[in-house]
Amino acid sequence: MFENLQSQPADKILALMQMYKDDPRETKVDLGVGVYKDATGLTPVMRAVKAAEQQIWQAQDTKVYTGLAGDPAFADAMIALVLGDAVPRATVAAAATPGGTGAVRQAFEMVRMAKPDARVFVSDPTWPNHLSILKYLDIEVVPYRYFDDETRGVDFDGMMADLKTAHAGDVILLHGCCHNPTGANLNASQWDDVIKVLQDTGATPMIDIAYQGFGDGLDADAAATRKLVASVPECLIAASCSKNFGIYRERTGLLMAVAADPAAHALNQATLAFLNRQNFSFPPDHGARIVTTILNDDALRADWMAELEEVRGAMLGLRTQLAGELQRLSGSDRFGFLGQHRGMFSRLGTSPEKVEELRVKHGIYMVGDSRMNIAGLNTDSVPILAAAIIDVGI
Ligand code: LMR
Repeated sequence: MFENLQSQPADKILALMQMYKDDPRETKVDLGVGVYKDATGLTPVMRAVKAAEQQIWQAQDTKVYTGLAGDPAFADAMIALVLGDAVPRATVAAAATPGGTGAVRQAFEMVRMAKPDARVFVSDPTWPNHLSILKYLDIEVVPYRYFDDETRGVDFDGMMADLKTAHAGDVILLHGCCHNPTGANLNASQWDDVIKVLQDTGATPMIDIAYQGFGDGLDADAAATRKLVASVPECLIAASCSKNFGIYRERTGLLMAVAADPAAHALNQATLAFLNRQNFSFPPDHGARIVTTILNDDALRADWMAELEEVRGAMLGLRTQLAGELQRLSGSDRFGFLGQHRGMFSRLGTSPEKVEELRVKHGIYMVGDSRMNIAGLNTDSVPILAAAIIDVGI
């Protein structure tokens, strides 16, 4: 029977990871997959994570199943981290998932269960796996304008015009902060306008927040999400702990569904548990337990926040250095956007041919749409990248 299978298109980000591994050049630079690396190229286990793991190892006396929606303490801690006190806790249904991707997948499945013909509006561009999962689930996708190729900022007029065509029963997918793949983000007043469109159209927002703490800080990065959930009757939020806790392989995420009233809340919670049961039964616990331990312990939490700030500061420093170096080499301000973008990524805004040239000639690996993982750089490789960008004529 399996001869009937059709080969699937390779995931561009994961294919690039493999190409980088296979490149023997010692000078190669990996700006591909969204994984934080320190100045030595290591993706470290965060100090608080190590300490929490030690505590768990000592205290844990069973590995028996938790709940279908995961440990409620994890949901409580994460809801507080992401949503603060924007909405009453009693309106938020939540389920632990295998990573942020698991939360995104369960959210789309929930949408399809609720309304099989729902359309999902996605930014153009968005994280490629959003599109891949939506296609797999046979959910209609409506792209909305987002990135302005000229300014490398947000095409806000285009975005608003496209979002206004949504209606009740549609879902509008938004990146809570640190837009992936562009690094271009809405400002506070633009978020207000988006909220107004959501209220006017009655469309349901879904927020993917995978980089909280990587942009302007933990609370600043969640501010738009908090304001939005407080302003609309219902909302889905997919949160990832992979990046801000550095626990990528532990697959730790949370899907939240904010409801308008208690009856809807109970149905949401039951649906999330049902979806977990269908897809993987009980969600993984180890990463969730690490996160809960850190967030509920004052000392560990403070140390985690301090290290996250170090990570954020390092990425901002690299942005500033790269923008400065490119200004010096090009004699123009046309790369100033790199200093304004936030989060792990920036879209350089060049052609796939130039991206290919950077790879072949200079061993610089970025995704074909010219998305660069800024954390793949260090102070030594920034001048190399800047020189290569100028050399290939970007
Ligand atoms: C990325 O965008 O590179 C990350 O979210 C990792 C992934 O799974 O694609």
